[in-house]
Amino acid sequence: MSEESKALSIVVIGASGDLARKKIFPALFALYSQGMLPAHVRIFGFSRSKMTDETFRKCITEHLTCRYVPGESCQEHMDGFLDRCFYMSGQYDSRDAFLDLYQVMQREEGALPANRVFYLAIPPSIFLDVAQALGGAGLVQCGISDPWSRVVIEKPFGRDRSSSDLLVQQMGDVFREAQTFRIDHYLGKEVIQNLMVLRFANLVFEPLWNRKYIKSVQISWKEDLSVEGRGGYFDGYGIIRDVMQNHLLQIMSIVAMEPCTKMDAGHICNEKVKVVRQIPALTLDDLVVGQYTAADWKGTYYNGYLEDEMVPNDSITPTFAAAALTIDNDRWRGVPFLIRAGKGLECRTTEIRIQFRHANKSMYAALGADHSPNELVIRVQPDESIMLTVANKVPGMGMKIERTQLDLRYQEAFEEIIPDAYESLMLDVIRGDKSLFIRKDELGAAWDIFTPVLKQLETEGIAPEPYAFGSHGPKAADALAQKYGVTWA
Ligand code: BG6
Repeated sequence: MSEESKALSIVVIGASGDLARKKIFPALFALYSQGMLPAHVRIFGFSRSKMTDETFRKCITEHLTCRYVPGESCQEHMDGFLDRCFYMSGQYDSRDAFLDLYQVMQREEGALPANRVFYLAIPPSIFLDVAQALGGAGLVQCGISDPWSRVVIEKPFGRDRSSSDLLVQQMGDVFREAQTFRIDHYLGKEVIQNLMVLRFANLVFEPLWNRKYIKSVQISWKEDLSVEGRGGYFDGYGIIRDVMQNHLLQIMSIVAMEPCTKMDAGHICNEKVKVVRQIPALTLDDLVVGQYTAADWKGTYYNGYLEDEMVPNDSITPTFAAAALTIDNDRWRGVPFLIRAGKGLECRTTEIRIQFRHANKSMYAALGADHSPNELVIRVQPDESIMLTVANKVPGMGMKIERTQLDLRYQEAFEEIIPDAYESLMLDVIRGDKSLFIRKDELGAAWDIFTPVLKQLETEGIAPEPYAFGSHGPKAADALAQKYGVTWA
């Protein structure tokens, strides 16, 4: 029987939360409106709040958009989608509540064999309770294939290597690794999905992609937002666990990995794990941490991190971190990878900057040419783009050389709509493609890089350097980059 003719039940646990309402349901609607879900798809929301199906449908409609079906047919698509949505409330650790859900699912699935996705859009502290209750209610059925059941979970996966290992092992009692889809939504972003293509499908980059020609790599993640509304969660994790150990390290692993012999999830993950294991553990000497303080910025007053009502007023949780990592292999030995992530900064942007070494310096030196080296800038967001600075003769008499940009902006170059990361990733879960998900050995290797320094920060009570909201971050981050001959862009 084809996948298309089976039922597909998508269960979103934590259905009334922000992640579900703002990302998961809109992504499912985007897939539905493009005809990418099987005909017999049903979506079941589950959370503690009591709601009728009608109220639930109203509540999710708020964030659905007509991007893929503009005009009149949008309403028709929305009605069709909402008719397939159902809601059940219950406690997250209650087997009985999931048994009730099971009955509703069976009623909707009818006699068809049903594939099932369980999306745990809930805090990691209750992953296990939910997994056990689902297992206890018989919903999981350990199906790896025909029909299958899969679980989707979101980081943070643990707080360090050992808590992560424990979570992997305990979740593994209910869902096998093959059924587990660990999301890092940055991997679903269009520009990140293009990174391997850019590197490996273009002859011009790969031969230069090594220590002989590349001087440094910067990966910068900036947000101009505070932790407002998430202070409680954030204070328990901090920016290193929230962004650096996952989003930034994932980007770095794709920038640095070796080509795969085959384009499938197993081969891609193998190469990523290999390179992550070659990154020595970060030390305090190569780390700067900061915390934003109150400031007037662009005419508005912003509270400092410590003023957030969910944050203890003596918290030393970093909202900014900059780190210098290296990779101990023949391709990268000696090339600094400078990565930084910060909230409460001057703008929102995520960028990869590959700085090449200087070209033949002497030949044009007498002409006073601009000798800044070539730079490849890959902007993940906003304004997705790829830019390469190259030396050019300025038009006119004589020989004046300047750096200018070859500029590929997605909005201008492509007519297609750029999908939200969750749309691609949800479709991959349904298709069973794990290329953009985190395997357990990759997760362990990622924690090995950060666990020692996180422990040291916490046991020694190292205070982060304050920086004003809306600024570029702590000064010490500049000094760290300069130590490696780099200036942050
Ligand atoms: C999440 C982090 O993973 O990514 C948040 O927990 C952060 O702190 C968010 O704000 C940023 O995602 P995006 O897609 O808006 O860049």
